[in-house]
Amino acid sequence: MVKDFIRISTSLPLKGSCEISGAKNAVLVIMASSILASGKTTLRNIPVSSDVLTMIELLEYLGAEVFFDQEENRLEIDSSTIVQSEVCPDIMSRMRASFLVMGPLLARFGRAHIALPGGCSLGKRPIDYHLKNFKKMGVTVEEESHFITATCQQLQARRLVLEYPSVGATENIIMAAVLTSGVTEIVNASLEPEVDDLISVLRKMGANITTQVPATIIIEGVESLNSVEYSVMPDRLEAGSLLLAAAITGGEISIPNAQPHIMDVFLLKLEEMGHTVVVSDNGKGIFFKATTAPKAVSFKTGPFPGFPTDLQAPMMVAQTLAEGTSIIEETVFENRLLHIQELRKMGAQIEQIGTKAIVTGVPHLVGASVVATDIRAACGLVLAGLVAHGKTEMTGVAHFDRGYDRLTQKLVQLGGKVERFSSEVLGSSSKHIEKFV
Ligand code: EPZ
Repeated sequence: MVKDFIRISTSLPLKGSCEISGAKNAVLVIMASSILASGKTTLRNIPVSSDVLTMIELLEYLGAEVFFDQEENRLEIDSSTIVQSEVCPDIMSRMRASFLVMGPLLARFGRAHIALPGGCSLGKRPIDYHLKNFKKMGVTVEEESHFITATCQQLQARRLVLEYPSVGATENIIMAAVLTSGVTEIVNASLEPEVDDLISVLRKMGANITTQVPATIIIEGVESLNSVEYSVMPDRLEAGSLLLAAAITGGEISIPNAQPHIMDVFLLKLEEMGHTVVVSDNGKGIFFKATTAPKAVSFKTGPFPGFPTDLQAPMMVAQTLAEGTSIIEETVFENRLLHIQELRKMGAQIEQIGTKAIVTGVPHLVGASVVATDIRAACGLVLAGLVAHGKTEMTGVAHFDRGYDRLTQKLVQLGGKVERFSSEVLGSSSKHIEKFV
């Protein structure tokens, strides 16, 4: 068995300019949407992450022909060769987002046979909103051990109400509805920027989708959709992570392709800490300069445009070193605070009460051996290692690979000291598989 880990050493303030990659949480669902058009879809600005490679494996398992040019970040998916609607359980177990093929498979084939996505460290993560609403659209859902078989003669357009603006449920229903004759409404829908990016690519494919306040998406079914070329949106979560790396190390960076208009609450909190955030005149790109005396701020996560839950962990790290006390409330997932125990190993002073964390700033963190529990916790722990006194070694690196495209190289490019190791458990020596200095 090979054990991978990342070693992070105390780094100087990060400085420089860095472009962000395409958004993982847009590209995965947009890859799934390629099933809806029987032809060759070309997607650009595709991050090289393990989740993207898993989604490619899934599409190929269904019969699609996929070519991924990792140098040019270009993906070509020919879905005309998709012949079956069963998703293998191994792929499902590796990535929950695999469940996003259910809507497209029902729309195109009237059938989907999928393993139930497991829960994860964030919580149970049920799929009841997806299934309840598919049933309202005329789908018969049979659950047997860990499998779901969903079938329908003809999907029916309905007015559907989500009890919570679930991103995945909104996306799955949209993709089931675009080829369903009649008008489907989704009330209390998720309007995250990544959902918006899905709607943009579907409109380009020929779908008839409009949005209304409050948070309603209206889909009028069309006969068929065309395969298109599309460039996926930049990743606001990677942008936030890089800004926090600069904030935590007291640095100064610019991200030319960041989209500040979809990061308002997060950027507001950085400014309330005393940091300087400058948005370019054309509204594209962010220049950031850290304050030398950051003040602790409180926040709670919530659906867009609230504070994104996917930036909660790295933002918590910034609070561990700020002056004062920060109260952080995680309202999206019931168990997204596992990184607290890891940060305590590094000397952070954090008390947890239910889904709240009370963080009291300390003068500095200390390096430790820590374990990443999810994609965003992994990011937070790497950022903490950049300023901790001494070295930090983080295992659970697979989480880190899932969510980012070479984020380690980007941090090193800005001055971070990050090394990637693979230690052969059988052998005695550790060897560098990637060393960035
Ligand atoms: C998407 O997950 C993202 N993943 C998550 O990013 C993100 O944190 C989340 O949206 C919230 O913004 C992708 O887009 C691939 P939800 P999703 O359905 O769709 C509960 C990352 O780190 N719920 O909006 O699964 C659920 O348990 C990942 O990149 C039900 O109860 O999120 C959670 O508490 C993590 N029943 C809440 O709703 C359901 O049927 C929000 O989940 C569905 C969800």
